Amino acid sequence: MTQRKGIILAGGSGTRLYPITMGVSKQLLPVYDKPMVYYPLTVLMLAGIREICVITTPEDQAQFQRTLGDGSQWGISLTYIEQPSPDGLAQAYLLARDFLDGAPSAMVLGDNVFFGHGLPELLAEADARTTGGTVFGYRVSDPERYGVVDYDAAGRVTQIIEKPQKAPSPYAVTGLYFLDGTAPERAATVTPSDRGELEITSLLETYLEDGLLDVRRMGRGYAWLDTGTHGSLLDAGNFVRTLVQRQGLQIGNPDEIAYEAGWVGRDEIEARAKAFGKNDYGAYLRRLLD
Ligand code: G1P
Repeated sequence: MTQRKGIILAGGSGTRLYPITMGVSKQLLPVYDKPMVYYPLTVLMLAGIREICVITTPEDQAQFQRTLGDGSQWGISLTYIEQPSPDGLAQAYLLARDFLDGAPSAMVLGDNVFFGHGLPELLAEADARTTGGTVFGYRVSDPERYGVVDYDAAGRVTQIIEKPQKAPSPYAVTGLYFLDGTAPERAATVTPSDRGELEITSLLETYLEDGLLDVRRMGRGYAWLDTGTHGSLLDAGNFVRTLVQRQGLQIGNPDEIAYEAGWVGRDEIEARAKAFGKNDYGAYLRRLLD
């Protein structure tokens, strides 16, 4: 099987977080001790994906390059693609078509933060499905803000509805999509919605119609955090801080994941630790080596 490739979609203008995001991309804002984009990036790394493209607005691209580099420091490869205008999530597959070159993909939204015991196993199962798609349904108190799963009486998925006025279930579809190599050609058949966007739910609908969409439950033991408002962004940071302080283990650290996967060695981690000097991140990397 062709190796699955990753897409991080980090476009958008982040108007809901204005004035904070007037000068900086939302996905580069801090979630406690790391830039937001580290969290979705490490989800892809935990899925074993090493070839990843980062889709951003043309204006933000340089900031992402400064923050993430070419990926070699983590033994991965990062490619940058511009999204000239934010025309919907499904557009990412059109923009990434050449990059994917027929490979299956995992796309994660640059502002989605996941945490939970068993996440690597959940990702491995989704990765192992080579045809069709896998998405994750997560119970939330405000499903109307998301793509929502509609189930029939037998518990089969009948539809995924984008931001319904009245949600048919409390299960939102998270911003993590494992799709097979047909995603770009399917995305090309999607027509803009009433709000003028190529909706990810319309792309997922094509898989559903073909009986090729697996909607997995991401259970209550997982945290899928919102970062879309000033309050929820702070809450996400506090959530991460609480766990990190209690356990002494970081969340979403690409250096740690690359080191444990054997993608980089001691020398690379030592060099990175040196670059971070005496701060907590540097000290954490030094402890990893002890
Ligand atoms: C997007 C998708 C939605 C999904 C959500 C997850 O919404 O359109 O289906 O549930 O991401 O974060 P948006 O962030 O564009 O409001």
